[in-house]
Amino acid sequence: MTDIKKGLAGVVADETAISKVNPETNSLLYRGYPVQELAATQPFEAVAHLLWHGELPTDDELAALRATERAHRTLTPEVIAAIDLVPLDAHPMDEVRTALSLIGAIDLAGRGSVLEASGSVEDNLERSIRLFAALPAIVAYGQRRRHGDEPIAPRDDLDYAANFLWMTFGVEADPVVVDAFNRSMVLYAEHSFNASTFTARVVASALSDLYSAVVAAVGALKGPLHGGANEAVLHIFEEIGDASNVVPWLDDALASKRKIMGFGHRVYKRGDSRVPTMKAALDTLVAHYDRPDVAELYDTLESEFVSRKGIYPNLDYPSGPAYSLIGFDILTFTPLFVAARVTGWTAHIMEQLGSNALIRPLSEYVGPDERHIEGYVPDPAVA
Ligand code: CMC
Repeated sequence: MTDIKKGLAGVVADETAISKVNPETNSLLYRGYPVQELAATQPFEAVAHLLWHGELPTDDELAALRATERAHRTLTPEVIAAIDLVPLDAHPMDEVRTALSLIGAIDLAGRGSVLEASGSVEDNLERSIRLFAALPAIVAYGQRRRHGDEPIAPRDDLDYAANFLWMTFGVEADPVVVDAFNRSMVLYAEHSFNASTFTARVVASALSDLYSAVVAAVGALKGPLHGGANEAVLHIFEEIGDASNVVPWLDDALASKRKIMGFGHRVYKRGDSRVPTMKAALDTLVAHYDRPDVAELYDTLESEFVSRKGIYPNLDYPSGPAYSLIGFDILTFTPLFVAARVTGWTAHIMEQLGSNALIRPLSEYVGPDERHIEGYVPDPAVA
């Protein structure tokens, strides 16, 4: 009997130098640095550089990355028009997937056959920065058009996180809010061979182009067992209403064997290493917006669920309410995850291409035994 690892659980599929998840010590390192140290000290642009190049940027390197990022912040009229074609009641992840696909098609137009699709290291770095820079505009415009608002032009005097909030809300965010948002971007940036990153590596391993790999990863991230969980947490909060309703709600949910979104993890079984940092950011937002009710609901559901099931929160649990307090619509949460994780995806695509082997596992066939079409007479020439 073949030993099948359902969901590839526990399978080590390849090496990576990008991040290390250690469930034993409850730690997550990006290129050797603990993620909580990066979240507390680094702008998201510096973490993107770290993931792509392996080292934090010098001042000059950071300035150069910021200049390139600023140069690619504005969406072309074609991309705006493509976003406008997506029905307003479609999920924003479909909008993000469509916009990124068109950016790729425009960039790669006239670049020859599929044999050259995977591009050089320089091509892929440029493509990575292009997507990194465009995503805030895509996500911000998506939320704005659902409110009937026009897109807002980027501000060259603002760094990535502050400009992202500016383009979404049209007001300069308080530094406390910018800091909490920046931390969330850093925490979401990378997490080894999760489902979407592995998807991106599979596509890249066929020597397809970086844009195709990222678009495929967006599809994987949309699922509620992966990135869609941050959105699902807020739907749960809305269902529960307030802390006094947690116990009866949880009784019903567990009796009907519902999964409680924002809890559990394939790798971390004793707590997600990113949660304390994001919870601290959520606490600053709760204080800033004076919303103790949010903290009360958060704490009550966490303590009730952990005490009953021994399953701990993952990053989506604190990030969902944090994004809601900042003012993002619930449906925008997973696109925010894309804006962050595009850095990890693209770092992995480049790493995959650096020592590529086509990812092509085997399967155990369990279908019918060989059988034949009645009356079919084999052609002796091809039998
Ligand atoms: N609520 C209720 N029960 C749960 C939960 C949960 N959130 N998570 C795990 N369980 C139970 C599950 O029902 C199963 O019980 P039993 O053995 O009695 O059938 C047991 O725990 C093992 O669960 P599993 O789904 O087989 O474990 P897994 O390692 O495949 O799942 C997971 C990991 C993330 C898919 C799962 O915990 C889950 O569905 N969580 C809710 C969705 C969620 O929050 N996803 C975000 C993941 S973190 C962000 C990311 O990396 O994308």
